[in-house]
Amino acid sequence: MKAPIVLAVDTKDIDTAKRWVAATSESISVIKLGLEFFLNFGAEGVKSVCAETDADLFLDLKLHDIPNTVSAAATAVSSLQPDFLTVHAAGGASMISAAAGALPSTRVTAVTILTSLSESDLVNIGFKDQALPSAVRLAELAVPAGAGAIVCSPLEVAAIRDAVGLETILITPGVRPMSEAGSDDQKRTMTPRDAISAGANYVVIGRPITQAWKDGEIALRDKARAIAAEILN
Ligand code: C5P
Repeated sequence: MKAPIVLAVDTKDIDTAKRWVAATSESISVIKLGLEFFLNFGAEGVKSVCAETDADLFLDLKLHDIPNTVSAAATAVSSLQPDFLTVHAAGGASMISAAAGALPSTRVTAVTILTSLSESDLVNIGFKDQALPSAVRLAELAVPAGAGAIVCSPLEVAAIRDAVGLETILITPGVRPMSEAGSDDQKRTMTPRDAISAGANYVVIGRPITQAWKDGEIALRDKARAIAAEILN
């Protein structure tokens, strides 16, 4: 059964990408293809991966430019009919509205504060508040501007849910299944279930599923099934 998992399809090899999404299709609701994939393989590459699954498409391009340019860039991917397209909330309300206007059937998905930024990085950039209140403020700016979804850290989900209400989709990376907490570079993690209990609609999961590929297609399918079961049961 499909769980609210966004599979991070982070691979340089398009055939591997196709096989990952085909093998996990029964458990995965959404596939996430990022900027690296898009720059390497373009719209045709995205279409060819999408053809292997009935999962929704999360196009993670993190657009951030003047409104006119973001509108044109969003229009340029309209043939892909992405269910989600990311933009940086810090691009401002007009930019978010421009993306939403260009793609009325897509949930423009605002990325708040990158979790790679430390509190001192935020000070150096010029943010006046810490990460949590900054992320809440950006979410409060993005939703009325037309964002239908927000990407945030699992640690920010509860506060952002309180701030934006129930209609906005919250999506969080940085989750690790119980068995794998602390096993890689993701530090401030939560389990997928806890993230969803805190108010997330979807969790982004990459390597905890895709690393099973080294043991073959069946192992990959079973890993996705197991993590889906952990979320659904
Ligand atoms: O392999 P892993 O489960 O860590 O993959 C998480 C995905 O979410 C990757 O595609 C990563 O780039 C993305 N991501 C993240 N942390 C953020 C934003 C995006 O891990 N703050």
